[in-house]
Amino acid sequence: MNNFKYYTPTHVEFGRGVEEKAGELVKKFGGKKALVHFGGGSVKRSGLLDRVLASLDAAGVAHVELGGVVPNPRVSKVREGIELCRREGVDFLLAVGGGSVIDSCKAIAYGLAYDGDVWELYEHKAAPQACYPVGCVLTLAATGSEMSDSSVISNEENGKKRGVNSDLCRCRFALLNPELTFTVPPYQTAAGCADIISHTMERYFSGEEVTEPTDSIAEGLIRSVIEMAPRALKNPEDYEARAAIMWAGSLSHNGLTGCARGGHGRVGDWACHQLEHELSGMFDVTHGAGLAAIWEAWSTYVMGSAPKRFARFARNVMGVVEADDEKAALAGIAKYKEFLHSIGMPTNLRELGLELTDEQLDKLAYNCSFEGTRDIGSIRVLQQADMREIYRLAR
Ligand code: NZQ
Ligand code: ZN
Repeated sequence: MNNFKYYTPTHVEFGRGVEEKAGELVKKFGGKKALVHFGGGSVKRSGLLDRVLASLDAAGVAHVELGGVVPNPRVSKVREGIELCRREGVDFLLAVGGGSVIDSCKAIAYGLAYDGDVWELYEHKAAPQACYPVGCVLTLAATGSEMSDSSVISNEENGKKRGVNSDLCRCRFALLNPELTFTVPPYQTAAGCADIISHTMERYFSGEEVTEPTDSIAEGLIRSVIEMAPRALKNPEDYEARAAIMWAGSLSHNGLTGCARGGHGRVGDWACHQLEHELSGMFDVTHGAGLAAIWEAWSTYVMGSAPKRFARFARNVMGVVEADDEKAALAGIAKYKEFLHSIGMPTNLRELGLELTDEQLDKLAYNCSFEGTRDIGSIRVLQQADMREIYRLAR
């Protein structure tokens, strides 16, 4: 077993009604004036925003609001938020929404503690040294941003989507009420499930043959989401299904399924995520759907480097009964693809709605390799030419 660090400082409260604690927790974590950040309107329509504002008022926490965060959140909105917070003397960032809102909040929090332009941090020209405190009320189970060390922002000027990973931005608290996800539309629910599973897979397929108990935890998490996704789609108000998916989302990206694993510069593989971020940066697709669209191409491309691992996934997660490792591995990939289709997810780029030219494949691979300066992946290390080939296979 490899040495590892497991750091999950987020205070989590889970269950019906926990959003009422927002004010009390902002105050507990030192906030006197909060920015309440939200998206395109779902939190207004549901009445959640009013309830959160009332809880801040009740706790004596002053606040200003900034809505309008879009999926694949933009750096322009982040800059607007930084300016507003400086002007208003905000000292705490409260996200009320999905991963995009939380990530935008984290970016504002980094920007407030940084002298230069915040995009420099996302371009990795500088490493963040500090970050204002962030908390969240989650409305969509998907990204795990509520407990992760990650923030991903898109720059509409150059079509690039980049992430910063650092413990500095981990949410001080996360309020997780599964009922708040009852109104998430089917496509976003399914894309969220694909994303949750992917966060565990990115760690599970990192190269080691066996890492117990982490492997069994990872397999259990994926099995739970595969079982519960159809239930949540059939009945959006199935509390147990929504709750299982929500908690699996947090556990899939808080580091738990990466404990004791290796990687190539970072724990886990992350190739599918890197390949997808270029897709959503250039074409503004839904992140989880983009991951689903790339998965078969990636898995068949790298499977030969780790047939035993893919065979274990096939047997322990997808229920494949087959003695030969390579046959089992291929059957597992086919069964996972079937699952993605069954919940309405695309399994190639055409199904995602993209008809890509050869030049666009070149550009995606060029961007994904940071202009030919980096490799990605760890179960099999991928260079720019490999990236292009995976995009081509996914076409
Ligand atoms: O904007 P509103 O009106 O709120 O609508 C949103 C949005 O249109 C809607 N929605 C959210 N909660 C809802 C709801 N609609 C009805 N009822 C509710 N309760 O859903 C749409 C999508 O929201 P968004 O926040 O974009 O989705 P998600 O949570 O999947 O976040 C995706 C973003 O997170 C990044 C992705 O790349 C993408 O930019 N990721 C962040 C990660 C992290 N920080 O750790 C890790 C991930 O790998 C990922 O990269
Ligand atoms: Zn993801």
